[in-house]
Amino acid sequence: MRQRVPAARHERAISVIVEDANAWAGRQDAPLFLEVDRVQFADRLATVGPYLFFDLDQKAAAARARGVDVINLGIGDPDLPTPGPIVDALVAGVHDPATHRYPDYQGAMAFREAVAGFYARRFGVALDPRGEVLGLIGSKEGISHLTWAAVGPGDVVLVPEPAYPVYAVQARMAGAIVVPLPLTAARGFLPDLAAIPDDVWRQAKLLWINYPNNPTGAVADRAFLAEAVARCRQHDVVLASDLAYSEIGYEGYRAPSVLEVPGAREVAVEFFSLSKPYRMTGWRLAAAVGRADALAALSVVKTNTDSGQFTAIQLAGVRALEPDQDAAIAEAVAVYQRRRDLAVAALKAAGFDPPTPSATFYLWVPTPAGVSAAETAARVLDEAGVVLTPGSAYGAAGEGYVRLSLTAADVRLEEACQRIAGLRLA
Ligand SMILES: Cc1ncc(COP(=O)(O)O)c(C=O)c1O
Repeated sequence: MRQRVPAARHERAISVIVEDANAWAGRQDAPLFLEVDRVQFADRLATVGPYLFFDLDQKAAAARARGVDVINLGIGDPDLPTPGPIVDALVAGVHDPATHRYPDYQGAMAFREAVAGFYARRFGVALDPRGEVLGLIGSKEGISHLTWAAVGPGDVVLVPEPAYPVYAVQARMAGAIVVPLPLTAARGFLPDLAAIPDDVWRQAKLLWINYPNNPTGAVADRAFLAEAVARCRQHDVVLASDLAYSEIGYEGYRAPSVLEVPGAREVAVEFFSLSKPYRMTGWRLAAAVGRADALAALSVVKTNTDSGQFTAIQLAGVRALEPDQDAAIAEAVAVYQRRRDLAVAALKAAGFDPPTPSATFYLWVPTPAGVSAAETAARVLDEAGVVLTPGSAYGAAGEGYVRLSLTAADVRLEEACQRIAGLRLA
């Protein structure tokens, strides 16, 4: 079954690509690609819009160009620098000519061993670096390529909603049918797996879960993870766990890995990223771990598509995963916790009612009664110069919320909250 979207979205996607191509070609004056015939582009673009954060970046840039002092609390991109020892390890790696050649397709063995070492130390999970760990160019890459490895036209992918957009977008591009699993405050933002009809389970090939959760900040306990493993085992579905925020927990909260559940490695692939814990978003380094046949399938797509991450970056990742860097994570978490508390207090004083998350660096803020997510985000940007992400951009079930990221300096965050309070929206 083809999923259809309104033509306007298609046209928006095309126009973003065209603008991008023109910028790349440095031809703002006489655009090279403006009159391009749409039929040159693949049909699958009709199933996707522009990437959410690309779109938000464009809006923020437009406001900046109008002279607005924009405070961007849209994207979750740590403002703190990567810890020094990790940077030093990269520099040393760059000077080693052995890193200058094509990387190992599965990821450098030292990196795979370091990931296995981290899982053993942090989660008590033993992984075989030769088959249960695969190096990635960031988890976004692995999430995308796992989808292409696991599903094709007509297959069902079970995707929580709201969610990180890549799960659904890649499934749609691969021709699969996305069945949204609504996450509601009433259920602690956990999907109701028992409510999924048997015939949907029968067509399903892939289930995504993501705890600690972006965008809601919710966490899942081992009982939920065990239920997900059991149901995926029962219905022969690949369970994909996105663990991007496992290390960002407050007041001692320690997120579990799905692989802690007995038998999970026969069902589940987990994505562990160095981006958020080690403030390495720009470096593009992550790993897929667990279910060996799914990693092998992912590796087929990957090795036919990319050639792995620069080995020097992987060696820096090895340094990051050493136990002494736990202190660097703790340092950043303390900063986010302080910001979380100041932002929650300031928003409450302004009449909003954000829950206090025990993990992630996001606040999932209910919009004022009767005001949509898009309207709230648009007013906050246009009238206060603050970028928030409208919850509806994470799927229809995200309506009624905006997401605020704590990855801006305290003073900027305080100022953003003051500006939002000044709008008297709530
Ligand atoms: C839930 C989630 N998964 C994956 C990613 C991608 O992270 P990476 O930098 O490893 O590609 C993000 C980035 O924001 C995210 O929020």
